[in-house]
Amino acid sequence: MPSPEIASRDRLIVALDLPSVAAAEAMVARLDHSVTFYKIGYQLAFAGGLPLVAKLADNGKKVFIDLKLHDIGNTVARGVESIAKLGATFLTVHAYPQTMKAALEGRAGSNLKILAVTVLTSYDDDDLRAAGYHLGVSELVETRARQAQEIGVDGLVCSPEEAASLSNIVGDRLRLITPGIRPAGASTGDQKRIMTPSRAITAGADYLVVGRPILEAADPKAAAEAIVTEIAQVSVR
Ligand code: C5P
Repeated sequence: MPSPEIASRDRLIVALDLPSVAAAEAMVARLDHSVTFYKIGYQLAFAGGLPLVAKLADNGKKVFIDLKLHDIGNTVARGVESIAKLGATFLTVHAYPQTMKAALEGRAGSNLKILAVTVLTSYDDDDLRAAGYHLGVSELVETRARQAQEIGVDGLVCSPEEAASLSNIVGDRLRLITPGIRPAGASTGDQKRIMTPSRAITAGADYLVVGRPILEAADPKAAAEAIVTEIAQVSVR
């Protein structure tokens, strides 16, 4: 089961996958008090979106910077040191031991939490083989989850399908964050392994990342509220 101390509304993270800061700010204004947590990824970050982190934080929102860092240890540590000053709550790195250790070094003394991405959900066993790995997806996810736990990162990004088995491995020491969420009846887009909000929470997800089902809804605020209501129905709180 998910951690009891997180309020239902704070479990919803809206992915601001939008082409400009103006579009992102308009969406944040529309969502208003319905959403407390936002994710900024490649698209918005590289369209000038990083200053939005401080602005959102000043307005009481939490921010997840999804840049999935991976480089030599020193570069990751110094990069994370700079990112920690932006005021975000979550940052993603790839779950390589050296990278995870460097990220923890870089965030020392800040409130930034480090999330590790085990294996990208677009990868299957053939993709891993082509990239030179001898492990399949499920074995590599498990290996990296154990390493992430030993090294002491704060959470894992995983598909909703992996949430149940990963929560058995890492218990409630690590937060589980799952994208690939689709309310019943919503279009799936390019997501292949999807779950409804309530099933993902029941499977052990602590936070749900939702983009298009909210961004492309005729009424984004109503779509967000419906997801929060669904989360509340199955959350321990
Ligand atoms: O629009 P949708 O709800 O599919 O958005 C999901 C968000 O989660 C996107 O920002 C996407 O980059 C991100 N994500 C994902 N799968 C992962 C990791 C992140 O869909 N494995």
